[in-house]
Amino acid sequence: MNTNAFDKYESEVRSYCRNFPAVFTKAKDSVIYAEDGKEYIDFFCGAGALNYGHNNDYIKKQIIKYLESDGIIHSLDMFTSAKRDFIEFFEENILEPRGFNYKIQFPGPTGTNAVEAALKLARKVKKRNNIFAFMGAFHGMTLGSLSMTTDRDSREGAGVVLTDVTHIPTPYMFPDFDVLNYMQTLIDDDHSGVSKPAAVFIEPVQADGGIHVFSVEFLQGLRDFCTRNDILLVCDDIQVGSARTGYYFSFERAGIVPDIVTLSKSIGGYGMPFALVLFKPELDVWKPGEHNGTFRGSQLSMVAAKAGLELMLNEKVEEKVQKQSAIIKDALDKVAALHNGFEVRGIGFMWGVDCNKVRPDVVSKAIVKECFENGLIVERAGRNNDVVKLMPGLLADDETLVKGLEIFVNAVKKVVETL
Ligand SMILES: Cc1ncc(COP(=O)(O)O)c(C=O)c1O
Repeated sequence: MNTNAFDKYESEVRSYCRNFPAVFTKAKDSVIYAEDGKEYIDFFCGAGALNYGHNNDYIKKQIIKYLESDGIIHSLDMFTSAKRDFIEFFEENILEPRGFNYKIQFPGPTGTNAVEAALKLARKVKKRNNIFAFMGAFHGMTLGSLSMTTDRDSREGAGVVLTDVTHIPTPYMFPDFDVLNYMQTLIDDDHSGVSKPAAVFIEPVQADGGIHVFSVEFLQGLRDFCTRNDILLVCDDIQVGSARTGYYFSFERAGIVPDIVTLSKSIGGYGMPFALVLFKPELDVWKPGEHNGTFRGSQLSMVAAKAGLELMLNEKVEEKVQKQSAIIKDALDKVAALHNGFEVRGIGFMWGVDCNKVRPDVVSKAIVKECFENGLIVERAGRNNDVVKLMPGLLADDETLVKGLEIFVNAVKKVVETL
């Protein structure tokens, strides 16, 4: 394997390539191919950016058609037919059927761009600087987003004080603790030392935090808390949106309507960089050009995004995920039976096996390595990186799913035998 160029010239900041030591050349649907001819089933999916698999034929066709037509590729935020097509499709097929009335902002094309825009907007609307975010949260790596992200190593990389965020414990951390009541006290008690926030940011399923699914009751309680206290509720659906949980938006299962929603990753359809901020029309207090960026609304991403949504609807991906989720759960129940320290959590096509109580650091790392050697890509997440995270492509057929899960279960068995 020739990695000289990377070893010699690429910054030490690289990360995923350290866990997946191969030079990849091509990919199709749920399978990635390395230069040496080895095949890997992809249960990582670009950290949620490839929900519809690699190089999907339908999306690819739309992209090629657009390129061959010499369609506009870059246009800042000028009016284009590609943008109009995307907006109309998204409005008619995603927002309207759910009764959502949102304005759409096109920020820069990455997730953290969407989060930064949402933060700025919330503070501008409410004229308050503080924000509530949850312990275990991951919202991105630029300074505003990073101030909400909780992972210690990432925060230490900031080099500046990360301010204006109060981190709130989660129900899963302290099951007997009334989190909503605590938040209420922080606001009401004039000696709490905490100022009222403009917004509460939440990932309805914490992904990088280690696959923690917030309960319907908690999400509904949080919605009520925000409404009662004139605080904006922001759902970060960048990783867990785009049908990954079996609902297009991950908060739909709770029947709540956030004030602001951030989307990125798989909204781009084909792994194309794209991000959106959705917000209630009355929050649209931006002045023209007040939050700008050269690569807002990349046109090819809009074409891919529309095609991705068409595919998602035509293939009934939400129903498919809800149904096939049981296949994953069944396999992971087998894993849980291998050692009573394993804790399995998840929803839809997003699952985690927490190995912390088996043996911190060692077990999750060994499982990921064993999986990779046997042709399966899974990553680690959560506290101490102790959670092995499984995120198969949403279009994966039963056979691929079962094959990948078999590799996973066998890898865990092998690691458990060494304990
Ligand atoms: C919930 C959530 N928000 C924001 C981000 C940041 O997205 P990006 O890496 O594209 O900046 C991520 C990335 O993993 C994420 O999972």
